[in-house]
Amino acid sequence: MFTDLGVDLGTRKTVICRGKKIVLNQPSVVLMEEYDNSPYKFGKEAFEAIGRVPSRYRAVCPIERGVISDYDVAEHMLRCYIQYACGKRMTKPRVIVSMPSNITWVQQRSIIDAVQNAGGRSVCTIESPVAAALGMGIDFKRPHGAIVVDIGAGTTDVAVISMGGLSKCESLRVAGTDIDAAIIDYMKHEYNMLIGEHTAEFIKHQVGAAIPRPVEIVIQAKGVSVATGMPKSVEITANEICEAISDVVYRISSAIRNVLDKTPPELVGDIAEDGIYLTGGTSQLSGMSDWLSKYIGIKVITADNYETCVARGIGNVLEHFDILKNGDYEFRTLQDLIIG
Ligand SMILES: Nc1ncnc2c1ncn2[C@@H]1O[C@H](COP(=O)(O)OP(=O)(O)OP(=O)(O)O)[C@@H](O)[C@H]1O
Ligand SMILES: [Mg+2]
Repeated sequence: MFTDLGVDLGTRKTVICRGKKIVLNQPSVVLMEEYDNSPYKFGKEAFEAIGRVPSRYRAVCPIERGVISDYDVAEHMLRCYIQYACGKRMTKPRVIVSMPSNITWVQQRSIIDAVQNAGGRSVCTIESPVAAALGMGIDFKRPHGAIVVDIGAGTTDVAVISMGGLSKCESLRVAGTDIDAAIIDYMKHEYNMLIGEHTAEFIKHQVGAAIPRPVEIVIQAKGVSVATGMPKSVEITANEICEAISDVVYRISSAIRNVLDKTPPELVGDIAEDGIYLTGGTSQLSGMSDWLSKYIGIKVITADNYETCVARGIGNVLEHFDILKNGDYEFRTLQDLIIG
């Protein structure tokens, strides 16, 4: 029976696997009591309270752009999630936790520290796109290039992989929450209307698109008038939202193209043959894969298990530690970071 855990610590959600089994999938949000700074609710219940909390509570998202922005709250959240994932098991679990590539050692150390203080032992990190590649079943050891793109809430992680190693790996600070922010901005400037984060995300899910839809859709958006402070509701179309978010979609796509531009030609040849492996919640934006394949000129394969593939990839590593060790992959532990 496995007690080792894989933790995908995302900006928007935390997914934990025990061995290969997904045992937790919850928003990375904590509702904190204002008067004594103690945690009140975690996960889904805390997420639903965002924008609606009474003054005695504060909704905190302790992970921003894939790194810890509020250490104490992150530790509370991880402790709760790790305890839940371990069930009745008494021993401390060994943990592998995902992180964006290209983060500073201080940020890496804070992730490892928080997981360790929250109940993990022998904690080490793995880059999210490497875990995503394993979760999508890409054969790491082949002398053949593959590119994995994980477009999440706070970061777009791109990794070019070959022969068990990383040829190029980049983490870009633009993803789903920037699309939500573009919608909030658009509603403010075009309709003089304030909307919350939940509404922006709802609009994105309902009518957001990377390319214009063949059939126009219209929905009602509800918010508050900037001029009067009174409730306001307007009709918006899918095509105007597509236009409003086009700049963010373009920034994500050109970042992926930049990584390919820096990739050795042999590997680009392999990638052109196989396609781009796409995962992460924002891969589900309507038209995203079609737009990317048109813009980059390479076909795109979207993961079916886009929500859990990073955690599943870590699960594979937990079961067969040599998957990456034989390929010279370096896991970073607290020791490496202190000495390094
Ligand atoms: N159908 C959809 N259309 C558009 N966006 C979507 C859809 N489903 C999910 N998303 C977006 O995906 C994002 C969440 O993705 P994901 O769960 O991969 O993020 P994360 O792993 O927590 O973040 P990160 O890896 O960036 O730290 C959110 O911004 C969410 O709005
Ligand atoms: Mg993620």
